[in-house]
Amino acid sequence: MNPRHQRTLVTAALPYANGPIHLGHLAGAYLPADIYCRYQRLAGRDLVFVCGSDEHGVPILLKARKEGVDPQQVVDRYHAMIEKAFAAFGMSFDYYGRTTDPLHRETSQEFFRTLADKDCFVLKTESQLYDPKAGIFLADRFIRGTCPGCAYEEAYGDQCEKCGRSLSPADLLRPRSALSDAVPELRETTHWYLPLGRFQDKLSAWVGDKKDWKPNVLGQVKSWLADGLNDRAVTRDLPWGVPVPADVARKAGVDAEGKVLYVWFDAPIGYISATRRWAEAQGDPELWKDYWCSEDSKLVHFIGKDNIVFHCLIFPAMLMAHGGFVLPDNVPANEFLNLEGDKLSTSRGWAVWLHEYLEDMPADYLRYALATTLPEGRDTDFSWKDYQARVNNELADTLGNLANRTLTFAKRYFEGRVPPLENPSEADRALLAGLDGLPERVGELLETYKMREALSEIMGLAREGNRYFNEQKPWVTRKEDRRTCGNTIHAALQLVASLSVLLDPFIPFSCASLRGMLGFEGLRNSALREDEEARIHWADAGRPLLEEGAVLGKPEILFHKVEDSYVEAQLKKLEATRQDSAEGSGENAGGDDGEEDIPEFAPLIGFEDFQKLDLRVGKILEADRVKKSKKLIRCLVDLGREKRQILAGVAEFLDPEDLIDQQVIVVANLAPRKMLGLESQGMILMAEGPDGRLSPLRADAAPGSVVR
Ligand code: MF3
Ligand code: ZN
Repeated sequence: MNPRHQRTLVTAALPYANGPIHLGHLAGAYLPADIYCRYQRLAGRDLVFVCGSDEHGVPILLKARKEGVDPQQVVDRYHAMIEKAFAAFGMSFDYYGRTTDPLHRETSQEFFRTLADKDCFVLKTESQLYDPKAGIFLADRFIRGTCPGCAYEEAYGDQCEKCGRSLSPADLLRPRSALSDAVPELRETTHWYLPLGRFQDKLSAWVGDKKDWKPNVLGQVKSWLADGLNDRAVTRDLPWGVPVPADVARKAGVDAEGKVLYVWFDAPIGYISATRRWAEAQGDPELWKDYWCSEDSKLVHFIGKDNIVFHCLIFPAMLMAHGGFVLPDNVPANEFLNLEGDKLSTSRGWAVWLHEYLEDMPADYLRYALATTLPEGRDTDFSWKDYQARVNNELADTLGNLANRTLTFAKRYFEGRVPPLENPSEADRALLAGLDGLPERVGELLETYKMREALSEIMGLAREGNRYFNEQKPWVTRKEDRRTCGNTIHAALQLVASLSVLLDPFIPFSCASLRGMLGFEGLRNSALREDEEARIHWADAGRPLLEEGAVLGKPEILFHKVEDSYVEAQLKKLEATRQDSAEGSGENAGGDDGEEDIPEFAPLIGFEDFQKLDLRVGKILEADRVKKSKKLIRCLVDLGREKRQILAGVAEFLDPEDLIDQQVIVVANLAPRKMLGLESQGMILMAEGPDGRLSPLRADAAPGSVVR
């Protein structure tokens, strides 16, 4: 921590309020941000953590039109849903805001006004597509037409979702308005642009100093800078968003009617308005300035990699243009998280939704599993099998086991108290010495955004604890040498207590229950800002935390194993959504493996229905074509007890020679039927291939054997 910094303001990307939160969001921005903030609070730092819903933008408007509701209804719904899921996941925001908040509107309009007054914008008048029927200018997403590449008729003005080609509206053949189907016409419209080129030098110099930014972030930023920064439109013609302030428009001689701030202009200002709301809630409305406008404040943006340019160049340029704000100290953007080896895709349904996950499983299991696979340096993969292994082997068998055996032992043999440490052995001392310096080491990793490494360092201690417990064999020394046994339990309890602090940023719910079992009080709350200096801090985890003789709580199982059936169910659910979405979009789910040709399953039958069938193994003794029939082959089949004549409709696909001597499965109790004057006394089971070809099912058992 730079001593210059007295305060820290942490932001996590404002999620769009047009869909629920999924694992990709969590791994990209939210979980690392929360781990960071909880750690900082435990370390006694003055920190504010803000986030909120990003409620503007075209996709929200489109969704509302599609549902035939007001956009406000869409964002109200998702805002509530997201906020609730975040809380249940343990996100410790000091304030979670929303960009439809009137204070946000005011804050972003004021920001825009300041930039206009300082002459930071350029105005440009250009021709844009206009929907004469709906009476509005059409954002690229609102224009549909035929893709020049693949002839898909539903391509958007910015991209064809069928072939992935990126487009501009002028590329589309037969363009039409997605709102009214009207043929769009070109009309002139005026917009405000932020001339980023003016900030190029200042931004380059600023970024050039950032030695501690992650390489994946610096790489992207430097390549943008090398390409040269262009003017960016910061207003749009849309019926949804923060209106362009009328006074600013009037001064510029522009009609403000129907014009709003571009969503990427107002959204990052949402960080500021959320901090203002937080300050109000503290009873000190000006307090936000200590975090935004004071040189001794450290600003950190947690985001996913798709947001890098906005947070590392455009928003900083806005802040520079405005003046009086600190610039981000760091933007620890993560790469992407894949799911079961495939790119996450909400439109294809290839995602795990947080609110659904939380219906069945504890937040901490997911926090833990995700923390071990955060895409900090490169894309990583989440799989349910790995989730299960992490929970079962690491949480349950390592951490849970250590805590449980130690606490149970103390309860049973030491009256539920912390035994004293008397004449500790070399091993006892070595174990306790392992705590020394650990909070600093782990803190340094967290300070530099290496959450995965920090976690694995801490878990190393838990593994160490189990090894120690096994080697010390307290179940043996209990009978022979109570002092030694007490020392073992004492040292192991101290280790567990330290773990309950060090792991708190990662798995806060479990650590709180663990501390309850240890009867351990006085730790700062990682979710709250606390001022009392006296409370136990992060650094205290480096020394024994429990008093000799202190009363312990009741030991309980901390982690339950994840069953195979849960994993299977999750995988099934994923596959099902994948198929649904493929059907919905008319895509071919099966691809090359011909899955699309596999017919639906028939309605369920009871076991009694199945039992009515008498299936037997039969051996085909004779086979010959039925005269005047293209289809039928007459077979004589040995069913053990008797021989039957059975007609099989396979002459188009098979020769009689293919059948002779084959052992097949026969429906032995099918009522006889006459075909072309011959009686068929049963049926031979055949499998039908995708092309309609039939081939008999072979059975490797004596004729007459019952098939069940
Ligand atoms: N809503 C954007 C996204 O999900 C992120 C906005 S971050 C902010 O990609 F800085 F603009 F707030
Ligand atoms: Zn296409």
